[in-house]
Amino acid sequence: MDQLKKLIELAKIDFEKCETQTELDNAKSKYIGKTGPLTEAMRGLSKLSNEEKPKAGAFINEVKSSIEVLLSNRKNDIQKAAMLSQLEDEYIDVTLPGLKQSEGSLHPISLTMHRIENIFHSIGFDLATGPEIEDDYHNFTALNIPEAHPARAMHDTFYIDKNHVLRTHTSPVQVRYMQNNQPPLKVISPGRVYRVDSDATHSPMFHQVEGLWVDKNVNFANLKGVVQDFLQKFFEDKNLIIRFRPSFFPFTEPSAEIDMSWNGGWLEIGGCGMVHPEVLKQVNINTEEFQGFAFGLGVERLTMLKYHIDDLRPFFTNDLRFLKQFGGR
Ligand code: PHE
Repeated sequence: MDQLKKLIELAKIDFEKCETQTELDNAKSKYIGKTGPLTEAMRGLSKLSNEEKPKAGAFINEVKSSIEVLLSNRKNDIQKAAMLSQLEDEYIDVTLPGLKQSEGSLHPISLTMHRIENIFHSIGFDLATGPEIEDDYHNFTALNIPEAHPARAMHDTFYIDKNHVLRTHTSPVQVRYMQNNQPPLKVISPGRVYRVDSDATHSPMFHQVEGLWVDKNVNFANLKGVVQDFLQKFFEDKNLIIRFRPSFFPFTEPSAEIDMSWNGGWLEIGGCGMVHPEVLKQVNINTEEFQGFAFGLGVERLTMLKYHIDDLRPFFTNDLRFLKQFGGR
């Protein structure tokens, strides 16, 4: 009996040493396995007298259930410890700031292009595009700039080959549009243009938006009205004043440069004029019946004025710190 009682103490010490369920299972078999001391004691009961048997049997069972209690307590402890260590391993600090998903935004030039397109759309202009690699005819000749004409020198042209250039302006789209559509015509054409030029205020690639309106009675006053209306809408300033300064372009007559009031002075933002009859003749439009105006505006210039940017270069160097400030979609 004393020996059996001691088993409880031993089991307690043994079980406490166990750190895992496997260790505990192994320890368990030392006490209540088929070959363990308790089973043996049970077997030994047969040797006892009938009087002693029940008492001894009850005692053995008591010892067995004490050991089982120790076992299940230890089992719980081991499970709890395992759970705690798992929780510790998988600990997530929910108060940490999350990983930010940065939001893309449109380039300021794109924002301006969309603004321009929306405004002209609202006053009835269609949209047209043309190729950036343009042939000599559309970029120059059809626009009344024949070969050897001094006006070609106004454009510092990138030549692809003898007959093809990177278009130096969006005006060739006028020609293409008039070749493919009959008047009345009312269209804008925004896009990239290229010139051999690069400094703080010039980039070899930049953007223009061309405008063309051809109809029976379109006149210079309409040109002024459309351009002024557009600029007042674009800059959200009803008091914006513009000025037309006489100038020269081979494809318009008369021609003017467009200035707008800015900080007490004037700033040039594009060229314009009445479409030259030579140009209309190139595309078989009857100059007795139709006339029109055209204009070309500098998109970078408009963007710089709109967003108060005084350097052209950040538009093309793709510095996110610059680009992020516009946040438009
Ligand atoms: N194409 C001219 C330029 O790039 C601008 C312009 C367009 C002038 C249409 C008159 C009419 O300088």
